[in-house]
Amino acid sequence: MRTLTGITPSGTLHIGNYFGAMRPAIDAQSRGDCFYFIADYHSMTTVTDPRERRKNTQAIALDWLACGLDPAKSVFWRQSDVPVVCELMWMLGSLTPMGLMERAHSYKDKTAKGLSPNFGLFAYPVLMAADILLYDTQRVPVGRDQKQHVEMTRDMAIKFNEAYGETLIVPESEIRDAVAVVPGLDGQKMSKSYGNTIEIFGDEKALRKKVMGIVMDSRSPAEPKPDADKNLAIQLLKLFAPTDVAIDFEQRLRTGGLGYGDLKKALFEHYWNYFSGARTRRAELAANLDYVERILSDGAVRANAVAAQVMDRARKACGLR
Ligand code: ADP
Ligand code: TRP
Repeated sequence: MRTLTGITPSGTLHIGNYFGAMRPAIDAQSRGDCFYFIADYHSMTTVTDPRERRKNTQAIALDWLACGLDPAKSVFWRQSDVPVVCELMWMLGSLTPMGLMERAHSYKDKTAKGLSPNFGLFAYPVLMAADILLYDTQRVPVGRDQKQHVEMTRDMAIKFNEAYGETLIVPESEIRDAVAVVPGLDGQKMSKSYGNTIEIFGDEKALRKKVMGIVMDSRSPAEPKPDADKNLAIQLLKLFAPTDVAIDFEQRLRTGGLGYGDLKKALFEHYWNYFSGARTRRAELAANLDYVERILSDGAVRANAVAAQVMDRARKACGLR
């Protein structure tokens, strides 16, 4: 089973990215062949400062490695180190009906939020399909917001195979129900672009302030809260605390007697401890950037080798060579 996923270096990674995409990807390392990349071409649709792109790319490399990506088990590379992905994008794009592209909601969502409607933003699902199909991927761990893109990828692979004969593997998404949409500080989907994130790594004081600043209703601590399971701090606590601990907090909130301040304090402590090992590893890696660069360069060699085989198949199938 080959698993592949990518994350765009368009900002600092948050716990939605972690539980939606990184955790399942890291767990998959014990089950088979893993391909993980930093989607720097994708960041070009929104980031136009080269220093920012480089800085984000390096930070994401550190984040992935600190959180458990093991270069002995996974191929880990920068998307742009395998430029042939753009050739596959053209092959796929040439078979993709405009109707399919126009149904993609990410373009509509992003332009509605004020991003300038450039061609890259519109074409992005085709580049994402090429990312997946270039490596004979079978499984793609992502959050629910990416489900449509994996479905479009399946459509494109099927279209290609119908046009040119069985060439590309049709992949499936892996979406974990419990963490398909991690809520942000405002209760909406957590996203880099909504300013509602809890970062995986960052300054303790600032992060504590963010967590303590989660807005709750005005009911007194003593008042029973029958809707305790809907409480945002409880939902987030469930991600970090052992099940019995989280259930105990939920029960105390439900019956009354637990104040929101104490609940948020507990949430912060559990969140902060959850990443403590990763935080130490990240600091060690940050002091050894040459090592990180070697992992990415070595990953690029291995990714290029697989991509070359798939492209050879695809070119022959199309009659290009
Ligand atoms: P963002 O919306 O913050 O820009 P990305 O689009 O870069 O995040 O997402 C990277 C990966 O993280 C994708 O697989 C995406 O589905 C997942 N992801 C992002 N936000 C969440 C969330 N709030 N809950 C679950 N998964 C998420
Ligand atoms: N589009 C994804 C996102 O914004 C990132 C991504 C690019 C990706 N290529 C991919 C994810 C291929 C999975 C597979 O989150």
